[in-house]
Amino acid sequence: MRNNNWPPLIRAQHWLTVLLMVLCIGAVWSHEAFDKADPLRARLMQFHFLLGGTIGLLTLPRLLTRAFVKAPVHPMAAAVALLAKAGHLGLYLLMILLPVCGYIAVSGKGLPIDLLGLVDIPPLPVSKDTAKAFKELHEGLANGLIALVALHVAAAIFHAVALKDKVLHSMMGRADE
Ligand code: HEM
Ligand code: HEM
Repeated sequence: MRNNNWPPLIRAQHWLTVLLMVLCIGAVWSHEAFDKADPLRARLMQFHFLLGGTIGLLTLPRLLTRAFVKAPVHPMAAAVALLAKAGHLGLYLLMILLPVCGYIAVSGKGLPIDLLGLVDIPPLPVSKDTAKAFKELHEGLANGLIALVALHVAAAIFHAVALKDKVLHSMMGRADE
């Protein structure tokens, strides 16, 4: 029996990121539902900063782990494999760029960034105009990430349901042949 799974550490890193990403985006979307005077609104944004920062920080050791791992091999056309690689590269890039842009955006207030009272992060020395530009960039990139994730998930489901190959199984630890 040949093991064609992603190693457990890579699978753990992948699914942990998915969970953090859902909570991170859920927090920023749901904060809109609360009035500006409601302290829960600010708390949800702090939760967003904390989770977003954690995703960025975890992506660095994830990329290091990935550099030492050989990906499972699945039969597919070279062009499709190249497209998948480009999509994955885009996801990694956005997982690093988003927290950086977010940090610069929030620094514009010139106040320490409160992460749910757990820790205060000093703001970067940026002008209000720079912060505003990075807030817009952050929002644009976030929409790009959401679109890319939607494509990524659709591709994973297409592999499992239509192509009936082991691509999704290999990320779930169920691709033993
Ligand atoms: C991978 C990490 C992150 C993801 C996926 C992410 C995603 C998002 C999304 C989807 C939005 C809503 C965009 C919109 O309304 O069109 C948003 C807004 C925002 N994010 Fe992030 N974010 C991340 C990290 C961060 C970090 C680390 C910070 C700050 C330290 C941050 C600060 C902000 C701010 C200030 C907004 C604007 C909120 C508003 O005023 O409506 N984000 N982010
Ligand atoms: C926030 C959402 C997600 C992000 C940011 C994300 C990110 C990534 C990245 C960067 C890779 C590339 C691994 C590498 O080659 O280094 C990957 C692989 C993979 N992801 Fe996701 N993913 C997400 C959600 C999902 C979901 C929900 C599914 C399943 C429905 C999924 C299924 C897969 C599969 C099957 C692979 C392996 C692809 C292959 O072997 O070529 N992902 N993911």
